[in-house]
Amino acid sequence: MLVYSAVGQTDSVASELTVEAATLREQLNHHNYRYYALDDPVITDSEYDRLLRRLQDIEARFPALKTADSPTQRVGSAPLSAFATVAHSTPMLSLDNAFNDAELRDFDQRLRNRLHPNGQSEADIEYVCEPKLDGIAVSLLYEDGILVQAATRGDGYSGENITANIRTIAAVPLRLQGEDFPATVEVRGEVYMPREGFERLNQRARESGEKLFVNPRNAAAGSLRQLDSTVTASRPLEMCVYGLRHAAAGQLNSDEPGDGRMHPSLTLTNHLDAMMLLKRWGFLINKLMVAVSGIEACIDYYQRLAGLRDNLPYDIDGIVYKVNSFTLQDQLGFVARAPRWAIARKFPAQEATTTLLAVEFQVGRTGAITPVARLQPVFVGGVTVSNATLHNQDEIARLDIRVGDQVVVRRAGDVIPQIVRIVSDGAARSKQTIVFPTRCPECESDVVRAPGEAVVRCSGGLYCPAQRKEAIKHFASRRAMDIDGLGDKIVEQLVDAGLVKDPADLYALTVEQVAGIDRMGEKSAQNLVDALARSRRTTLPRFLYALGIREVGEVTAAALARHFRSIDRLLAAGQQDFVDTGGIKGVGEVTASALVDRLQSQQSLELKPGQLQGDDLVNWLVSLDIRGIRAEVAEAIAARYPSYEELKNITAEELASGTKSIVEGVGPVVAQHVVTFFHQPHNLEVLDKLLNRARIHWSEEGPTTPGEQPLFGQTWVLTGTLSTMTRDEARRRLERLGAKVAGSVSVRTTCVVAGESAGSKLVRARALGVRILDEAGFGELLEQYASL
Ligand code: IVH
Repeated sequence: MLVYSAVGQTDSVASELTVEAATLREQLNHHNYRYYALDDPVITDSEYDRLLRRLQDIEARFPALKTADSPTQRVGSAPLSAFATVAHSTPMLSLDNAFNDAELRDFDQRLRNRLHPNGQSEADIEYVCEPKLDGIAVSLLYEDGILVQAATRGDGYSGENITANIRTIAAVPLRLQGEDFPATVEVRGEVYMPREGFERLNQRARESGEKLFVNPRNAAAGSLRQLDSTVTASRPLEMCVYGLRHAAAGQLNSDEPGDGRMHPSLTLTNHLDAMMLLKRWGFLINKLMVAVSGIEACIDYYQRLAGLRDNLPYDIDGIVYKVNSFTLQDQLGFVARAPRWAIARKFPAQEATTTLLAVEFQVGRTGAITPVARLQPVFVGGVTVSNATLHNQDEIARLDIRVGDQVVVRRAGDVIPQIVRIVSDGAARSKQTIVFPTRCPECESDVVRAPGEAVVRCSGGLYCPAQRKEAIKHFASRRAMDIDGLGDKIVEQLVDAGLVKDPADLYALTVEQVAGIDRMGEKSAQNLVDALARSRRTTLPRFLYALGIREVGEVTAAALARHFRSIDRLLAAGQQDFVDTGGIKGVGEVTASALVDRLQSQQSLELKPGQLQGDDLVNWLVSLDIRGIRAEVAEAIAARYPSYEELKNITAEELASGTKSIVEGVGPVVAQHVVTFFHQPHNLEVLDKLLNRARIHWSEEGPTTPGEQPLFGQTWVLTGTLSTMTRDEARRRLERLGAKVAGSVSVRTTCVVAGESAGSKLVRARALGVRILDEAGFGELLEQYASL
């Protein structure tokens, strides 16, 4: 009895799951169809993922429930040792080419002559025009609606069996939608990699120093050639289909009686109908496919597509024109290995070979230095190209490019022309390798390459002509020196007129000079000069922020000001004054990330400052029972980070390298930017002009030690509108008193200042029980410390 019921129960669970799995498969296939074939999804991506995960769960528990058409099978399967060869049921043909309008008209004339040898008809032929996708031709075989085989074109007669790889492509239905398909269906189309996915893939490869793909076509080919289909699954491939009938000739339009499984509705008479049927079955077909009448309309289509080409999300290398009617196709037949009823009109190539004449280095407006290849002009992608980007230092090394090399230039879409590879080889090549400059080509300042970054930058931010306009705009901006009336347009005019070369020059401007520039009246010129005079009095954090040092935003500027308290002390600081890189003995990456994981999962540990330190901290670390953290290591950690507060927000990298910020929020990278900036003689010159000639100043005194700062260690949040001062002003006053001003309310917030019409931050503060001050209360507080 017991035995029976147990079995019965398992059976019923299994059968319920069988039903659920089938339903999920059906739903997922349907949503895939909505997404790819119809381009009209009805659920979100995350909802789709949820259904997929549920199906994966079920199949993991009951592997017997896996089916060939399960969407879970798209993730790739066990690697093959080699691809098997498969013979194509009918050869996969190629196409004749036409390179201009005349050749296209000839093609049409040939067809008309052939169809009407005695010139008895002037009727236009109906053609289907479709983009010629630049990818890999693939043939798909479905039996009873299930994808059973996919093969490459190979030599046209037999290709490689790449079924496992094709299964991973989401745009390929694993099971046909609907019911009206014959027992065997063969579909042909193109597998390609959309441009965006290609750029992403290469960007990742570039970052990790791997080999790049030269173009989306190669990337698609390489992705299909993987013996390990999990690799293919990770590549952004799509497949668009363009052929049904001739691949499956004798199947769909079989005259032979007796094929009882042939569906009666499959009486197709033309190519376009066949494509619509494929769409209904769940395939992706090209949205730009149209039927037109006569060859002149085909030529118009070419013009239209040539205009769209650059902005399409995928590469196309031409247009394919096909006679729409199957009856006419049959009358025309084939020559050699191409159909008579179709032709490809090619676009100008997107790649061409030319000579590298030189490499120059350009400095961008933010200081990034980009190598630019000067080329023997060459016609590619429809325009003459004489420059191409070489991206960065790594790219030069990767290509091992030398002056005089023969290079392949690619221009696809509106992407900047690139050099994809070198064709020169061996002894014939010059020895002239490309050396990346160590000084800015515009201003001679040192260049810096931050760890982990590919970009090399000029460090002469205040002085460099290339960065001049951006530097001055930033300097004048509201949160920096807040120079009223000095907008971007005026900065540009002042620089273009040669009146201002660096931020310090602003302060030497006269009313007459300013009034001399475009659309500036006497009055607004006077206003600007007054605003400049007013801006002389500022604060150290604003001034530091205004200098535009790389990666020094407002928060970092405030931290630097709090820590160093004077510009002279900051100028004298070296890397070691910002970060301590001593290392902690016994803590490697594994231990570090184990500890960081634990610290993060205990983020809720509510402790008062100083509650967990010294021996308590050591004991607590040991009690976490992390492999690798025994007493000795725990002591070393506590020696470097003496309290829980200092430890709790640390990253695994910091912990493993033992780096500790001395200045809050400043790591080795920012430190390097600051130190290099203040080591450039030209920057120092401008700084000197700013402080001594333009007389920019701030009160250096004020409270200096934490003890004297009444709000030291507190975090305040400002919200709503204050009637007596701007929010910036309020922030400055709070910072003078030692507080940190944060943008959002949390349990760590000390107090919220709520002005007029405060919103969600006030609500949140109430909910968390955070102290709240209104404007009057805030005023009293400031009053109380007015002397500081
Ligand atoms: S029809 C018998 N249509 O171009 C006709 N081909 O040389 C066979 N291609 O390798 C092809 N887009 O992979 C056709 N819309 C399209 C196409 C297309 C790209 C490729 C195809 C073949 C080559 C023809």
